[in-house]
Amino acid sequence: MKTLLLLPGDGIGPEVCAEVRGIVTALINRAGLELKIEERPFGGASYDDYGTPLTVEAMTLAKRVDAVLMGAVGGPKWAGVGRDVRPEAGLLQLRQEMEVFANLRPAICFDALADASSLRREVVAGLDIMIVRELCGGVYFGQPRGIETLADGQRRGFDTQVYTTSEIERIARVAFELARTRDNRVTSAEKSNVMESGLLWREVVTDLHKRDYSDVKLEHMLADNCSMQLVRNPKQFDVIVTDNLFGDLLSDQASMATGSIGLLPSAALGEAGKPGLYEPIHGSAPDIAGQGVANPIAAILSFEMALRWSLGRADLADRLYAAVESALNQGARTRDIGGTLTTAQMGEAVLAAL
Ligand code: IPM
Ligand code: MG
Repeated sequence: MKTLLLLPGDGIGPEVCAEVRGIVTALINRAGLELKIEERPFGGASYDDYGTPLTVEAMTLAKRVDAVLMGAVGGPKWAGVGRDVRPEAGLLQLRQEMEVFANLRPAICFDALADASSLRREVVAGLDIMIVRELCGGVYFGQPRGIETLADGQRRGFDTQVYTTSEIERIARVAFELARTRDNRVTSAEKSNVMESGLLWREVVTDLHKRDYSDVKLEHMLADNCSMQLVRNPKQFDVIVTDNLFGDLLSDQASMATGSIGLLPSAALGEAGKPGLYEPIHGSAPDIAGQGVANPIAAILSFEMALRWSLGRADLADRLYAAVESALNQGARTRDIGGTLTTAQMGEAVLAAL
């Protein structure tokens, strides 16, 4: 029996996770899925109850289960709390302690939604790219960091962007391996023209490619150009591998080619056999939280990725993916993609198709 830990979190997190629960229950009752669900408060919700965004108990549990599904964290309610206990700090700690360094962020444009994007249909129809974002290093974690007061009374804020050879190599390896199962092309995005860590990134990726993956087509691209190319012609890409910060930006940007950020799931993976962390790429959306109008598809597809990558049920993942596609083909639409369905109605539409 496998175990899934649900961390609904804040804002729209609990709303979209409720729809995942419905789907899990249906797969257990009707499709022979053997899965136990645990649930813990996370982020601001955990801070409110326990004074910390991630309790030791929840952190320990996250490392013991087979997969963790996170809803969303953060919101204006916690804007004033201490930096080290803000909701986002809980998420960074979770990612780091689970050692899920490889964040797979697929951007796929469903045929039914090719007109929902702000980009023209012909630019996005058929889009299927995979952004591989490094998730446990870079400027998100680099030391030193802080805000200090200078002798002249000014304040100075600083962060450190840092990558080691092994950190770059392990994420590049994931990208090359994935590419082999797809269109066999990798674009590595960095800023080697201005950053030393970017230069090392380019060198390490080049070396690894030469050594172990010369059958894969590798292209280096400066991250700013990559960002432009993602709106000019996103279909030129197959797999994009990039660092933590650029991956955060480029994946939000890529989501717009699919119609809505409410559609995009992600899987964060570590070494083989370790639990994966699954999260929609969207945030807690405080502007619509509590209204029951958020799109649950990103969360549902994050569970789909969990079935595939951590729970050993690629067969059910295929069925769930097909159900989402079929619900969209039948016209099911939440507000973000031009419809009127509520979160629960969208969940029901996927369930019906399943
Ligand atoms: C994401 C989010 C997070 C990040 C935030 C909530 C810390 O934007 O997963 O893309 O920056 O990684
Ligand atoms: Mg982000």
